[in-house]
Amino acid sequence: MRILITAGPTKEFIDPVRFISNSSTGFFGYEIARAARKKGHKVTLVSGPTHLIPPKDVKFISVMTALEMKSAVERIFPSTDCLVMTAAVADYRPERFFPDKIKKEGKDIFIKFKKNPDILFEAGRKKKGRILAGFAVETKDSIKNAKEKIERKNLDFIVTAALSERRSPFGDQKANFIVIDKNGAIERIFGRKAALSSIIVDKIEKIWYDYKRGKKA
Ligand code: CTP
Repeated sequence: MRILITAGPTKEFIDPVRFISNSSTGFFGYEIARAARKKGHKVTLVSGPTHLIPPKDVKFISVMTALEMKSAVERIFPSTDCLVMTAAVADYRPERFFPDKIKKEGKDIFIKFKKNPDILFEAGRKKKGRILAGFAVETKDSIKNAKEKIERKNLDFIVTAALSERRSPFGDQKANFIVIDKNGAIERIFGRKAALSSIIVDKIEKIWYDYKRGKKA
């Protein structure tokens, strides 16, 4: 299969040295890319800024912002069979970029944020037989929110986690996840992200096999 994976956070710059971002380290996405490549798939990894080394034999595209990630995904999406969006795309970007470093001259400052496009939602509208998977970390109502996102974004499945007091799953090697598919089936998976990655790739392969079998029938 041709699998497109996004990973990491996006950074939305306010001035040349400041940005808004999130806690994603990109680790799970890189592990899924590694697992998919190991199983012989053709993998493209579009990544926001991380400290990770991309897996071998994976086409690697580095991006910074949500808009850059959107362009990269839109370019590659037509020639993929599956999009796995592990990236924590910033939902908002500063409305304007200050070309010089902001000085603390006045009192408080107000920065207006503009909504970023939803990359996965747009992909869901052009799905046409492709597999789409989303990832979501929630502070409450994980399952309810996941089901709503599957529906709204036209996904095959979503991998969700509830943020723990220790801020897991961000940056952790091991974590608890719930995989929910579009038919409502719920599977709880726990362990090292490296091992869970291969479970996720198996799931993609199974859905793909069922799609293909369905088409032939
Ligand atoms: N996503 C995306 N583009 C965005 C925001 C999210 O493609 N602008 C993708 C993520 O990569 C992830 C899925 O959508 O696979 C769910 O992300 P999440 O942030 O949980 O969903 P949102 O729709 O942004 O909802 P909210 O932040 O309000 O929970």
